[in-house]
Amino acid sequence: MLIKPKPNGIDLPYPSEITPQHVYEQRRRFIAQVAAGAVAGTALWEMANREAFAQAAPLQKLSAKLNPAYSALDKPTAFKDATSYNNFYEFGTDKSEPAVNAHTLKTRPWTVSIEGEVKKPMTLDIDSLLKLAPLEERVYRLRCVEGWSMVIPWVGYSFSEIIKKVELTGNAKYVEFTSLADRAQMPGVGSRVLNWPYVEGLRLDEANHPLTLLTLGMYGQTLPNQNGAPVRVIVPWKYGFKSAKSIVKIRFLKEQPRTAWNLAAPSEYGFYSNVNPQVDHPRWSQATERRIGEDGFFHKKRATLMFNGYADVAPLYAGMDLKKFY
Ligand code: MTE
Repeated sequence: MLIKPKPNGIDLPYPSEITPQHVYEQRRRFIAQVAAGAVAGTALWEMANREAFAQAAPLQKLSAKLNPAYSALDKPTAFKDATSYNNFYEFGTDKSEPAVNAHTLKTRPWTVSIEGEVKKPMTLDIDSLLKLAPLEERVYRLRCVEGWSMVIPWVGYSFSEIIKKVELTGNAKYVEFTSLADRAQMPGVGSRVLNWPYVEGLRLDEANHPLTLLTLGMYGQTLPNQNGAPVRVIVPWKYGFKSAKSIVKIRFLKEQPRTAWNLAAPSEYGFYSNVNPQVDHPRWSQATERRIGEDGFFHKKRATLMFNGYADVAPLYAGMDLKKFY
């Protein structure tokens, strides 16, 4: 996305400032072992992640029925890849950092306040969100604006269930999602890479589309912290940055919200950000993508599909110039 400061550069605190000393020392011993060639191959990943996962709250099993009508037939990405190659700038700008750092996120108790143009404003905790509607499993493709993609079996229900529950006023035209921005739990929030908190938004008809998923889990379990625990949205026909993680506030608005990436680089990241192979990013083509875990670096990239292959959403944009509304 942007050209960012190095993880341990001037903008981000050192691991020793944010990690308990024993964990930090254990990590240094591990790095020393790696440098000495004592550990190799997949053992590396497993050791690093065993440590990080061990610090985070254990994942809970979630029962959810597969919704075949909304599931891609693509082969799901390995759990290991989906949980170790992440964008979650609140935990660092390198793809490997969220898996290592996000154990400091405390996901319970957690509440989401729903406000703005609603007749029934409310604050819901995670248990209420888990019970609000039957949980479904949906295998979605997620295409990042940077040119890579994954296929993930998410667990959740259509965001329209939330809209029904809070009853909108006639003025609601947009929805805004705000992620947690707590420097004490999120080391990246000290950096100037984005204006915190991370904010994303949708037009109301996009939010009401059944594909827009209020997401509480993946791979049959609650969300790992690095994937946006305990609650996020997934909007599969848009670039991944529209799918905000670790949401604490949902606001229904009359006006289009100002979103974090659009504020940071308006000519690069539009409000709509629909996956569109015909509209290039100013610095790279969006015509192809690399599927994480499947397409190696020497493998020919695969073609990116319009709306990431979710053609059902096309009527939402009838008559709009998608080069202008990128
Ligand atoms: N949400 C927050 N709060 N912070 C972020 O940095 N990154 C976005 C999106 N949601 C991001 C976020 C980007 S760029 C992508 S591609 C997806 O999360 C990645 O989701 P994943 O790590 O679960 O694959």
